[in-house]
Amino acid sequence: MKQIFQGVFQEGRKLYTLNSAPQQQLFDEELLVADGKEYRGWNPLRSKLAAAIVKGLPELPIKGNSKVLYLGAAHGYTPSFISDIAAEGIVFGVDPAPRVVRDLVFAAEKRKNILPFLADANHPEAYYNLVGSVDIVYQDVAQKNQIEIFVKNCSLFLKPEGFGLLALKARSIDVLQQPQGIFLAAKKELEKKFTIIDFRLLSPLQKDHAFFVCKKQ
Ligand SMILES: C[S@@+](CC[C@H](N)C(=O)[O-])C[C@H]1O[C@@H](n2cnc3c(N)ncnc32)[C@H](O)[C@@H]1O
Repeated sequence: MKQIFQGVFQEGRKLYTLNSAPQQQLFDEELLVADGKEYRGWNPLRSKLAAAIVKGLPELPIKGNSKVLYLGAAHGYTPSFISDIAAEGIVFGVDPAPRVVRDLVFAAEKRKNILPFLADANHPEAYYNLVGSVDIVYQDVAQKNQIEIFVKNCSLFLKPEGFGLLALKARSIDVLQQPQGIFLAAKKELEKKFTIIDFRLLSPLQKDHAFFVCKKQ
């Protein structure tokens, strides 16, 4: 098992994290024991962060003790892997859909560092006092106003020098326009507020998606 980032491992072409809730599977993921430790298989077809890593992300700003605000936490798939990586930190998971937050609550029951919020990231005042400042804002919400939501939450929550990780879905912004044009416009918009550390396309693992790593200026 080769470590490629803090808390992220590779065996052959597959990605793994160290399972911080041993012998517990949340999503039928592969559990693999190597060197006396248990690892969980992380699927880049299900997770945009895993896809970004497979597609050559040069640096992962999430560390072992990171405090992460995760917008669009859904059932908790990617949040659970971030909770493995930031095993000494915390993951605040926000999603407005009760059906998926129910699953997120089950995931949180099995892991000590996921805190679910049934909330809309357009209205961060709902969780402002509970979250405080964070090292990382991670967003995957597939909404037309994705950039606005991201900028608003990063302005409110990101520590100076903190990182914003954005999985951008072009078709949610405009179904007719070519994704490339949407990504370029998004990049220009983000550059007004952040230093862009990395930008990469996630196709074909995640169709019409791009991934941005932004640093607060
Ligand atoms: C593509 S799914 C996220 C998958 C998840 N990030 C993962 O990798 O496991 C998008 C999620 O964004 C949520 N979402 C949509 N609008 C949102 C908003 N305004 N605030 C927070 N979450 C939102 C949806 O309910 C949905 O669960």
